[in-house]
Amino acid sequence: MTDLIVRKMNFAFEDYDVPFLWNEENPAFSSMANAVSFLAIGFEKMIVKMILQTKPLITDPEVAEEADAFMRQEGQHSAAHRQHVRGLIRSYPGLQETLDLVIGEFDRLTAETPLKYRLAYTADLEATFTSVFKLMLDNEASLFRPGDDRVASLFIWHFVEEVEHRSSALIIFESVVGSDLYRMRVAPSIFKHVMKVIRIACAGFNEHVPLEDRKSDAMAMFASYRNKQKLMSLLPGSRARDNGPMPRAFDHLPLGEQLVALKGIIRSQLPKHDPAHETLPALADVWFRRYESGYDVSHWYTADTIATEVK
Ligand SMILES: [Fe+2]
Ligand SMILES: [Fe+2]
Repeated sequence: MTDLIVRKMNFAFEDYDVPFLWNEENPAFSSMANAVSFLAIGFEKMIVKMILQTKPLITDPEVAEEADAFMRQEGQHSAAHRQHVRGLIRSYPGLQETLDLVIGEFDRLTAETPLKYRLAYTADLEATFTSVFKLMLDNEASLFRPGDDRVASLFIWHFVEEVEHRSSALIIFESVVGSDLYRMRVAPSIFKHVMKVIRIACAGFNEHVPLEDRKSDAMAMFASYRNKQKLMSLLPGSRARDNGPMPRAFDHLPLGEQLVALKGIIRSQLPKHDPAHETLPALADVWFRRYESGYDVSHWYTADTIATEVK
């Protein structure tokens, strides 16, 4: 029996403006996380359709149950990210075009690639999440705490549930396709597609969100882009558009922790990888305990203050 719990969330994005620069202390991370919101909508929409197509092929009832719970968790993530992004579009209507492009990238995969490719895509990408999100959750004090509590709570919830269902996509892939070789063979094209989608989102941010609101060049996370911008700025008479300063989201994080995350990402793509054995972020445990005790996890940093005010 699966241990996954499907939790419905409401982060009150309708209540007041959703800032693009939701963590003012880290414009690069604000932008990166916003890009994740755009990607999540398209990716998780693809997952839901993919699982519906996969279900008739699953013969093991336990795997079928896991697939169903996995799909329903992803459906909740997608819905919450839509509310977040809708808030951003209210302030920057041009971002609707960016969202359509991102969703279009995943709809194209659904229409044009075989089911086993999308199962491998989901298994490969989700396998990296525990390492990547551990790095972020272990550094919540600088990455999430100073930010808008709704946006911070959305990402903490989503990342914690990604850790919770870290094995699901691989279990489903194993049960239906079951070829490490295939998964490894298509990995380069999968990660190329992921980077392409993030690039589309970040280019859209530079185009549709004024620099005074985003405070940094949203494309700065791409090394090739940084190098090109630096080179162009040295050329006399260059017409390269200056999209702002180019800080990086994780520059301040301990190098050792970044290397551990990188090693985890590489390990996640190797044959016989089992995410069940990964070291988990301590915050995930705290989150599950608080959720069970009835704590308002949709206001991760302010629930106590709100509760005191209400009393
Ligand atoms: Fe998700
Ligand atoms: Fe997931």
